This record gives sequence, C-alpha cells and structure tokens, in this order.
Amino acid sequence: KRIAVLVSGNGSNLEAIINAINTGRITNAKIVVVVSDKEEAYALVRAEKHKIPSHVFRRQDYPSREAYDRAMIAFLQEKQVDLVVMAGFMRLVTPEFVAAFRHRIMNIHPSLLPAFPGTRGVADALAYGVKVTGCTVHFVDEGMDTGPIILQEAIPVRPDDTVESLQARIHTLEHRLYPQAIDLWVRGKIKIIGRRCFIDEQ
Ligand code: GRF
Repeated sequence: KRIAVLVSGNGSNLEAIINAINTGRITNAKIVVVVSDKEEAYALVRAEKHKIPSHVFRRQDYPSREAYDRAMIAFLQEKQVDLVVMAGFMRLVTPEFVAAFRHRIMNIHPSLLPAFPGTRGVADALAYGVKVTGCTVHFVDEGMDTGPIILQEAIPVRPDDTVESLQARIHTLEHRLYPQAIDLWVRGKIKIIGRRCFIDEQ
C-alpha cells in the first residue's frame, strides 16, 4: 500500500513509522510522500534523511481551506496514495478531503478520546486531574478528533508528572501504537461498522 504522511512539526511519529517499515513491523507498505504545511517542520529533515520525497503546501498560497484541500487531494490522488497518515498535522481537513479518502485517513491523538480533543490534549488531561490518560489512533471524519477509534492504550498519570514528562511517556506509546494500527489497516484487518472498528487478528 502507498502511504502519505502529513506533518507539521517534529515528526517523531513519522520516524517511528519509517522504522517500523524498515524493520518489517509494517509489511507491504511504502511512504511515497511526506506532506507538510510548514516548510520549517523538522519532519521534512527526517524525510530527506530517509530519502523519502516531500512536498510543502503553504497555507498562504491558497485563497481558502477548500482550495488548499483540493490541491492536496489532487496531489495525493496523483501519487496514488491508499492511506493518509496524519502525524502531528495541525490542520483540520475539509469534508471534501474526508470524502475523497473516507476511512483511509488516520490520526493519532495524545489522550483517551473522546476526552481532551484539540491541540492541548496532554496539558488539558493533566490540568483536569485525571489519573489515567493515554493515546488514541482513529480514522478521521469531519469533526475534530471524532472519527472511529482503531486502537487506544492507557497509561497512569503520576503525581509528579509535568506536561513534558507525561508527553514523553505518551510519545513512547504513540510510537508503538501508530505502526501497529497502520499495519492492521494495510493487512486489511480493520472492519468498520458504524462508529466501531473491529480488528480481526489471528
Ligand atoms: C503527537 O503527540 C500526536 O499525538 C499529535 O501531535 C504530536 C506529533 O508529534 N497529534 P511528532 O511530530 O510525531 O513528534
């Protein structure tokens, strides 16, 4: 399967996915392009190190979100992308984008959804005082962090946790869970009925 990874920042999840492909934890998949909305994203440096083509779609080059997404849809279709993987891509996509890749867009979020959606998931969970948090891999729908959940895993919040320490542990979890979800999808193991994803393993 042909994968596009969408990024805006550091790209540690991108790196984890590349590693998983190179070590056979994701089988029969190739990252054909890394797409960023920010030219300064460190994820682009990572892509280059691994000789993966990349492309920047700058917001200011398009008159509207619709125009931006339309250009991106055309680009991804031209590359014959099967699966769109959002890894720290800090942009909400339009309904048109979702329709073009229905159930073929994944996102990872650093909380146990539906708790703490949005861009401050880790800080919000810590401030709320939850004793357990975690991360969620889900399909993307029209809402923000609302699509069908593929995998979720919990970790305890420690009394001495800061946003940084909690974030670090969640990242470690993400780097394991995201490749796992992608591999399941590539192997056709995820069935979606309504909002629920069923995984037929073994
Ligand atoms: C991750 O915490 C992910 O959950 C969130 O954005 C962050 C991206 O980190 N959506 P990185 O760029 O993969 O290091």
